[in-house]
Amino acid sequence: MTGRLLGQDKQYPTRGTRRPVTLKGRGKSIQPILTLHHARANNLKDLTIAFPLERFIAITGVSGSGKSSLIRECLLPAVQAALAKRSARKPAGLTHVTGAESLKMVHAVDQSPIGRTLRSTPATYVGFFDLIRDLYAQTPEARLRGYSAGRFSFNSSQGRCTVCEGAGTLKLEMNFLPPALVVCESCRGLRFNSETLDIEYRGKTIAQVMDLSVAEAIVFFEAIPRIRRPLVALQDTGLDYIKLGQTSPTLSGGEAQRMKLVTHLLTGLGDTVDGKVAALRKNLFLLEEPTIGLHLSDVRRLVEVLQRLVDAGHTVIVIEHNLDLIAEADWVIDMGPEGGDEGGKLMGQGSPEKIAELEKSHTAQFLKEVLGAKNKLVPRT
Ligand SMILES: Nc1ncnc2c1ncn2[C@@H]1O[C@H](COP(=O)(O)OP(=O)(O)O)[C@@H](O)[C@H]1O
Ligand SMILES: [Mg+2]
Ligand SMILES: [Zn+2]
Repeated sequence: MTGRLLGQDKQYPTRGTRRPVTLKGRGKSIQPILTLHHARANNLKDLTIAFPLERFIAITGVSGSGKSSLIRECLLPAVQAALAKRSARKPAGLTHVTGAESLKMVHAVDQSPIGRTLRSTPATYVGFFDLIRDLYAQTPEARLRGYSAGRFSFNSSQGRCTVCEGAGTLKLEMNFLPPALVVCESCRGLRFNSETLDIEYRGKTIAQVMDLSVAEAIVFFEAIPRIRRPLVALQDTGLDYIKLGQTSPTLSGGEAQRMKLVTHLLTGLGDTVDGKVAALRKNLFLLEEPTIGLHLSDVRRLVEVLQRLVDAGHTVIVIEHNLDLIAEADWVIDMGPEGGDEGGKLMGQGSPEKIAELEKSHTAQFLKEVLGAKNKLVPRT
């Protein structure tokens, strides 16, 4: 996979065209604009920066140039304050945003683990586990025995293994050594008690279903669109090999982050609010160096998830050094020129092609190479 991707000719953006952006005055712009005023955290030089909404934005610049200060310390709290309708009065000179009216929510999506408990799994996190439990409760045998959907949860004391309390593993404390996890002997890691495992849906127990990979589950639940849909979304982001019952804390950072994004994608598109379809619910997603730890092929899949969020009307702002991602953005905001006190300034903003032409920007020279005629990602010797 690595070799194939390195040798590939690549034209940016992969999707063919970038979404147009204009920062012209009110009424003339083709997309709403969120403006951050008086950004001054750490080394930032009292900046006023416009962020085009409903676009895919990359924040670039050398380490220490002020990217995190701008996004995490200024933009995030200012948007949160605007959404909470605090700070209705904006004392001159204080950091604040204007133009947040069309936003419903702001999410900072990082690579931290999802769910700290061993009872959290992709199926519970993404939310289709409830639907699977309903299927089990509706089987004739379950109805005969009076088992409700709750019985098929690791959190219910009736249904789960009482020894490991549904975790499937036990923590073994050892002197002088860190605790080790051992498979529960009572349920052999199946998490449920034997009565619960008597119930089968289409020939599989709930434990066997939790052991299916996403790809296998798509086939198994072919006839049930409400379960199939989130599974297909997971597969589309390259998570087809994950088992439905893998404990969430064991997902890698990159897997956890894509799982979060898929969940946002699904809820942002399919939800209803007050009976109305919430397709117009517009969120702002902030991501800090999401490609850390990702393989080139994973970066491409991440970019696809981000593009789909923007297609759905959301705004994605990504702090990034990875040129493969930056080159896909609609809009780049380049910070610099250097780190520390010598940074904290806006070097330029525009399409990646425009940023590549900036003089004095460290980002420009690298971006120019990637966007160059051949676009070949061959290691340069
Ligand atoms: N809490 C802090 N206190 C003092 N200086 C800070 C703090 N956080 C960041 N800085 C400094 O501010 C500058 C910008 O940092 P940062 O925004 O993290 O840069 P980037 O994210 O672009 O790498 C750096 O010189 C950094 O050392
Ligand atoms: Mg940073
Ligand atoms: Zn057990």
